[in-house]
Amino acid sequence: MAGDATAGRSATPPCCFLLILLCCCLRLAPNNAEELQRFNHPTKPDGSLSFLVVGDWGRRGLFNQSQVASQMGRIGEQLDIDFVISTGDNFYDNGLTGEDDPEFEESFTKVYTAQSLQKQWYSVLGNHDYRGDAEAQLSPVLRQTDWRWLCLRSFIVNAELAEIFFVDTTPFVRSYFTDSKGHTYDWRAIKSRKAYIREAIEDLESALTESIASWKIVVGHHSIRSIGHHGDTEELVKLLLPVLQANSVDFYMNGHDHCLEHISDKDSSIQFLTSGAGSKAWRGDIKDVNRKDLRFFYDGQGFMSVQLSQADAEIVFYNVFGEALRTLNASKGLHQSI
Ligand SMILES: *[C@@H]1O[C@H](CO)[C@@H](O)[C@H](O)[C@H]1NC(C)=O
Ligand SMILES: *[C@@H]1O[C@H](CO)[C@@H](O)[C@H](O)[C@H]1NC(C)=O
Repeated sequence: MAGDATAGRSATPPCCFLLILLCCCLRLAPNNAEELQRFNHPTKPDGSLSFLVVGDWGRRGLFNQSQVASQMGRIGEQLDIDFVISTGDNFYDNGLTGEDDPEFEESFTKVYTAQSLQKQWYSVLGNHDYRGDAEAQLSPVLRQTDWRWLCLRSFIVNAELAEIFFVDTTPFVRSYFTDSKGHTYDWRAIKSRKAYIREAIEDLESALTESIASWKIVVGHHSIRSIGHHGDTEELVKLLLPVLQANSVDFYMNGHDHCLEHISDKDSSIQFLTSGAGSKAWRGDIKDVNRKDLRFFYDGQGFMSVQLSQADAEIVFYNVFGEALRTLNASKGLHQSI
């Protein structure tokens, strides 16, 4: 018997102590620490960073998606971009049907062909992506089809002077669960909306608190503030905004409303930037052009560029012809340096 073989030993084997110690450590560690996946993205040699932001795009090149894509290529080359951010609604109308859906290549690989766009794409899911196989877009299999693709629920890109926090905002929106208007959503991984939101907020809050980056940027599909078709997302105003305000976030970038837009926060230095104009635009679908904090609104197609140095940020909105429509400059005050 196995018991006989150890009977003569007087003490518990040392490996058991190690095991007990390990168990204690695991139990002591806060359960929300470091759960978000992190990706390090190097800056340029001079410490600066530039990237493009586009949202609401995948329509097999139609609705000017191809025109926007080729202008992104041109501006991307001018700015020597380091990567591209997608604010979600990556594939219309109903996401992907699976990892082998040809729409992935037809709406992504074969559309964003410019040399300057052969960079990492960091993407979040939008509500339309949840209407298909949401898990497929998160799958590493897609990265074998096109290495540029990286889409996860919530994650962090650490680019030295800037830290970018991606949040999957679709499960925040109650109406997708209660009044799905005939659409089906892929909630396989969202067992409980409440638990999902609590964890997403906790993870974001602890990551933001620890961040020492000069620029803190949060990216989600849904707007916090917008005068477009959907307007403000009440759940995000209530649950996400206070966390961003408490942690000196500089920019919140989103899609969802098919427009380009800049709204300032009245209670903090957060700038709300919508870039959801990658293909079909909703011209004329506007709620409140007199909104006090509205800085810029354009209801046609286009995209946005971001250039960052330690001290300065320059953000530009472009139309379908690649013409700069508006520039936003921001800088870190002296009190914020060092
Ligand atoms: C494409 O862009 C041009 C220029 O803004 C616009 O006139 C045209 O209506 C757009 N086409 C579609 C299908 O949105
Ligand atoms: C923004 O800053 C750039 C230099 O970084 C400058 O060329 C440009 O004129 C500025 N734009 C505005 C609107 O202040």
